Amino acid sequence: MSRRIIIFDTTLRDGEQAPGASLTPPEKLEIAKQLTRLGVDVIEGGFPIASPGDAQAVKMIAQTIKGPTIAALARSLPKDIDAAAAALAPAKKKRLHVFLATSPIHRKYKLRKAREEILRQSVWAVKYAKRYCRNIEFSPEDASRTEPEFLHEVLEAVIKAGATTVNIPDTVGFAIPDQFGALIKGITEHVPNIDRAVISVHCHNDLGLSVPNSLAAIKSGAGQVECTINGIGERAGNASLEEIVMSLKIRKDFFHATTGIDTTQIHKTSRLVSTLTGLVVQPNKAIVGENAFRHESGIHQDGILKHAKTYEIMRPEDVGLGGSKLVLGKLSGRHAFVKRLSALGFRLGKDELNRAFEQFKLLADKKKEVFDEDLIAIVEDTLPAEQETFKLTYVHTTSGSDTVPTATIRLAKEGKEFQDAACGDGPVDACYKTVNRMTGLSPELLDYALHSVTKGRDALGEVSVKLRHKGFEVSGRGTSTDIIEASAKAYINAINKLVSLSTRQSSLGRRRALHP
Ligand code: KIV
Ligand code: ZN
Repeated sequence: MSRRIIIFDTTLRDGEQAPGASLTPPEKLEIAKQLTRLGVDVIEGGFPIASPGDAQAVKMIAQTIKGPTIAALARSLPKDIDAAAAALAPAKKKRLHVFLATSPIHRKYKLRKAREEILRQSVWAVKYAKRYCRNIEFSPEDASRTEPEFLHEVLEAVIKAGATTVNIPDTVGFAIPDQFGALIKGITEHVPNIDRAVISVHCHNDLGLSVPNSLAAIKSGAGQVECTINGIGERAGNASLEEIVMSLKIRKDFFHATTGIDTTQIHKTSRLVSTLTGLVVQPNKAIVGENAFRHESGIHQDGILKHAKTYEIMRPEDVGLGGSKLVLGKLSGRHAFVKRLSALGFRLGKDELNRAFEQFKLLADKKKEVFDEDLIAIVEDTLPAEQETFKLTYVHTTSGSDTVPTATIRLAKEGKEFQDAACGDGPVDACYKTVNRMTGLSPELLDYALHSVTKGRDALGEVSVKLRHKGFEVSGRGTSTDIIEASAKAYINAINKLVSLSTRQSSLGRRRALHP
């Protein structure tokens, strides 16, 4: 029988404690809406006493979000609990999360309190919070470095006082999976009233063990895990939601546990959190890193092409991605090369193929990734150089906090100019929507990056984009001192490549008949 694990998401509270990440209340609300689509059970919206912005964010989330329980954090102090309760007031389902450190080092140096005082204050805090809310979570901060018998005593007392969830934080990421699992098992065995509360865990990643520790705790009886999208959080971060959820899903045979997460929303959620916090996901990050489903080695590509499960333990579609990607680079083999050419519509004779493969290897030695446009240039170097079908002659955008972002664009094609305008989510989006309307193409924007080429206020900005359209992937580049213009130029550069590719492909189609 499978157990249902409660997913408590703390991206908006502990996640936001990640150095450099700061979210406005509307941004927090946008993430909370996506977390709801993802299917988390609890959203910890913030720490209301910490700032008026955090209190406002929790309130906005409490007013708007239906479905998940909304939680807010408070120290075991009246003013904190009052602030958290006020922010949570509009929520349909709410939870007050109170905490107090219990470890010897925190008692001695941070709180300067003896065990008895900590015990008394914990019980007081739970009782005080209970006046506002039935659903109370208590966290003995630094639980993993607390004497187990004292931890058991505190847990028993707070459950007696009304705590419905007891959360065991590995606050400084000190625990080791076997030991942390044993700590949870000890709690199930030595806290007499533990059946009246859910055991939760909250692991930090200082030794890179936050996910293994969380999973060991689930195996030992924890019913809730606290985690964040992309594993962001204080210092080295918190346990990553996507890694825990996918571990439970992929290794159901081992954990016998499920969650309510719609895993196909994972990638979208990860991108949103990364964009709004500005915290870039490392390319090799499990589940959501750019390389998580990309295969470069020839041996792996050959295996994947024969049977995906040879090198993939989960389907990219399960986490909301379109599919795996065989990256054509210097380690790629002939199988992947031929497969990509055939997806682009080319079937070459033996000698032609040998020559093309040789050229591809030479290019791959110089270039990290070989794109479709490179492949086509290799295959057909007799075709005319890429045409500049569309040329940007004018771009004007309006945007601002109270303005709908709008772009007006003028393009030249075959000596004639034409103009159009459209709105978007931002000025760049408005430009891209306008260009789509004008060119009749609506490619998927896979990547957008802005770099400063020169230094200073008048620096030249370079934008690079990656687009996908009808099975082609192309890159585009644009430079300007105006980043909107650079963005438009990069997009049009990529669009021109798409136009060239389809023209080249149809003219090659005629030649292909000669080389079946
Ligand atoms: O890491 C920690 O101990 C915390 C608690 C407030 C739960 O974030
Ligand atoms: Zn924490």
